[in-house]
Amino acid sequence: MTDSKKNVLVRLWFWFWQPNGRFAFGAIFIAGGIAGVIFWGGFNTFMEYTNTMTFCTSCHEMKAFPFEEYKKTAHYKNAAGVRVICSDCHVPKDWTRKLVRKIQATNELFHWVLGTIDTREKYEAKRLELAEHVWASMKASDSRECRNCHSYEAMDFHKQTRRARTKMQSGLKEGKTCIDCHKGVAHRLPEDYEDEDD
Ligand code: HEC
Ligand code: HEC
Ligand code: HEC
Ligand code: HEC
Repeated sequence: MTDSKKNVLVRLWFWFWQPNGRFAFGAIFIAGGIAGVIFWGGFNTFMEYTNTMTFCTSCHEMKAFPFEEYKKTAHYKNAAGVRVICSDCHVPKDWTRKLVRKIQATNELFHWVLGTIDTREKYEAKRLELAEHVWASMKASDSRECRNCHSYEAMDFHKQTRRARTKMQSGLKEGKTCIDCHKGVAHRLPEDYEDEDD
């Protein structure tokens, strides 16, 4: 170390141990903390924004793409006036899982730049593959996002149709999960898909 560097260090050392030096240090520390909180808040605001329907439909917008189909379903409009948006079904609520899903979504950004699904033809050609990703992840999570709203315990089976009542009670007991029987609740099913459950 050169002498001048040593001098600087020595002076800093003494400055720090002066009462006003320590005060300045404390101030820097607190300012850093506040900046951290603001950054953290900004980050979470960004996470919230990327969960809005406006954000999702900025890419998934046009006719024949998921948005128009979803607008015809009970999850968009129903007697009770409860709207279920894209992220309710496609993004986990839990913070860590949400972050993981957002990181995976950079793949979507990449394919958006490439224009992989930007025409109706391209979308239909890839729909089965994309739907299969969604089904696989819902099966793996035991339809966790559906269950955030619908729970077996809260279902009034007497108010359901006989078909719903018998199918669901036996199906769930056999270890089936919601998505095994309820594909296509928000979008048209892929043309090349053959249904075996139900
Ligand atoms: C930057 C544009 C863009 C945004 C914003 C966007 N997506 Fe996508 N999304 C895409 C593209 C492109 C694909 C096709 C990816 C591929 O071909 O592998 C896709 C695929 C999907 C799939 C298919 C699943 C899969 O794993 O392959 C789902 C579900 C989906 N998006 C839901 C959403 C939801 C929900 C939001 C909002 C939280 C959203 N997207 C926001 C461009 C976008
Ligand atoms: C944010 C809450 C929420 C989430 C998440 C949710 N639903 Fe729903 N679901 C509702 C509401 C509200 C209705 C409409 C009830 C009514 O008709 O009054 C509904 C209706 C339904 C219906 C009956 C109408 C129809 O479209 O056939 C089925 C079946 C259903 N949901 C299955 C699912 C499945 C499967 C998932 C997961 C992929 C899911 N829901 C996710 C709230 C939710
Ligand atoms: C074994 C297949 C099966 C499983 C598993 C299953 N369902 Fe169903 N569900 C049905 C059938 C069949 C109906 C009646 C649909 C009809 O008649 O069109 C139904 C009806 C419904 C309805 C509408 C009830 C009404 O009377 O309005 C909702 C909501 C629903 N299911 C949600 C779920 C959820 C959430 C899960 C997971 C916890 C689930 N189902 C698991 C087969 C199943
Ligand atoms: C009620 C739950 C629910 C809501 C709300 C919902 N989705 Fe989906 N989404 C699914 C399920 C389940 C699949 C798997 C395919 C199927 O069963 O239709 C899927 C599939 C997809 C796919 C794959 C391609 C396809 O058409 O199957 C994309 C892309 C997608 N959703 C985007 C969106 C966007 C964007 C929104 C909001 C405008 C949205 N979803 C709203 C449940 C939902």
